[in-house]
Amino acid sequence: MNFLEERINKDGIVKAGNVLKVDSFLNHQMDIALIEEIAREFKRRFHDKPVTKVLTIEASGIGIAVFVAKEFGVPMVFAKKSKSINIDGDMYVAEVESFTHKNKNQIIVSKKFLSADDRVLVIDDFLANGCALQGLISIAESAGATVEGLGIVIEKGFQIGGRVIRNLGYHLESLAIVDAMDTETGEITFRDQSAQ
Ligand code: G4P
Repeated sequence: MNFLEERINKDGIVKAGNVLKVDSFLNHQMDIALIEEIAREFKRRFHDKPVTKVLTIEASGIGIAVFVAKEFGVPMVFAKKSKSINIDGDMYVAEVESFTHKNKNQIIVSKKFLSADDRVLVIDDFLANGCALQGLISIAESAGATVEGLGIVIEKGFQIGGRVIRNLGYHLESLAIVDAMDTETGEITFRDQSAQ
């Protein structure tokens, strides 16, 4: 079991509806020593990639992506969620549907901050259905940038996102993959990634 799986076992709470609450250390209160360790682990896994920018989406991705960008010594750019329909031509735009919140957002990144020269590492806290990641990939590709890889802190392996992104041929690394959660006992089953 890796450091993150241990922490999820210790402090993660399994909620009804297959929701894993990790707000005591990851996406509300943040344990900075843990986030630094997560960032170092992404650096180790993507060390051979010529990353020029880390790309994430507000809100929870930002705090993690900051530390990852520091590891790579590159800027971090976050996509903003926007309800506005009047988005001018200075923005890259993608549509993101949230199954959890049952709503649709446009996400936007200014054309000033992403270009065809960029080699992007996409970072996010959760991967469930993959809509957020697909939106970020779409934005990077609209800019003509190269997606060097995608780093996720917690993947919910029983939802389709991970399979879809891997099948598209992207290099996706998830530090913990939850394959099952038991609401009754609170037990969390992680995918064995030791063979990789
Ligand atoms: P997707 O992006 O992979 O398609 O996921 P989905 O629409 O299902 O998830 C919507 C939001 O809920 C995302 O955050 C995602 O990170 C979060 N989420 C999904 N499953 C879980 C879970 O089991 N536990 C927790 N804690 N969060 C989960 P978001 O709407 O982008 O919100 P935020 O980043 O602004 O917080």
